[in-house]
Amino acid sequence: MAVIGFIGSGLVGSAVARRALAAGHQVVMSNSRGTRSLQRLVREFGPAARAATPGEAATVADLVVLAIPYGRFPRLPRDELIGRIVLDACNYLPYRDGRDPAIDEGRTSTTEVLADLLPYTRVVKGLNTISAGQLLADATAKQIVTHFINDLGFDAVDTGPLSTRRAPHFDPAPPGNPH
Ligand SMILES: NC(=O)c1ccc[n+]([C@@H]2O[C@H](COP(=O)([O-])OP(=O)(O)OC[C@H]3O[C@@H](n4cnc5c(N)ncnc54)[C@H](OP(=O)(O)O)[C@@H]3O)[C@@H](O)[C@H]2O)c1
Repeated sequence: MAVIGFIGSGLVGSAVARRALAAGHQVVMSNSRGTRSLQRLVREFGPAARAATPGEAATVADLVVLAIPYGRFPRLPRDELIGRIVLDACNYLPYRDGRDPAIDEGRTSTTEVLADLLPYTRVVKGLNTISAGQLLADATAKQIVTHFINDLGFDAVDTGPLSTRRAPHFDPAPPGNPH
């Protein structure tokens, strides 16, 4: 069990937190408006969740999940993130974040900007290509099945929604034999 600190508790932060809780971790949620605005969420999450400031969420966490708009990066608690591992789920959306010519011209990326901003933090990009809805979809059912398959001695791999599983399946009949 690990303590996962969240900077950003919106669609993505709360979806990842739900999955983290289901996997047995503790979560510390933070946002820009303060802990009072998170009381309802952490009450719903239960005893393994609490609200904190972004700085505290960074300080107490074994792993920090960053899920805020790219345009808010300058407001991150840089000192508290020193020495931490950050899972950066953030994307750049010009209509929301304002234009960044360096990204538009391919001279850098959001994660490189973050790594430059946090030189003493280990930054890993992840979860940014999954929608918040997909992060939640089938979480419980898939987790139960995944644990069961792993218990049988196999290594379950989640390859996405059912519609992506139209690939060939196992067929016991030899080629050419009707079955
Ligand atoms: N939505 C998706 O499906 C999706 C999928 C992949 C990646 N992403 C990316 O993930 C990031 C988060 O997206 P989202 O949809 O979760 O956004 P969202 O629902 O708008 O939530 C943003 C969260 O960030 C918090 N926040 C903003 N500035 C902050 C700061 N300086 N310190 C701490 N918290 C701060 C907000 O708190 P307040 O509300 O208190 O301001 C809010 O909790 C974005 O970069 C987005 O592009 C989104």
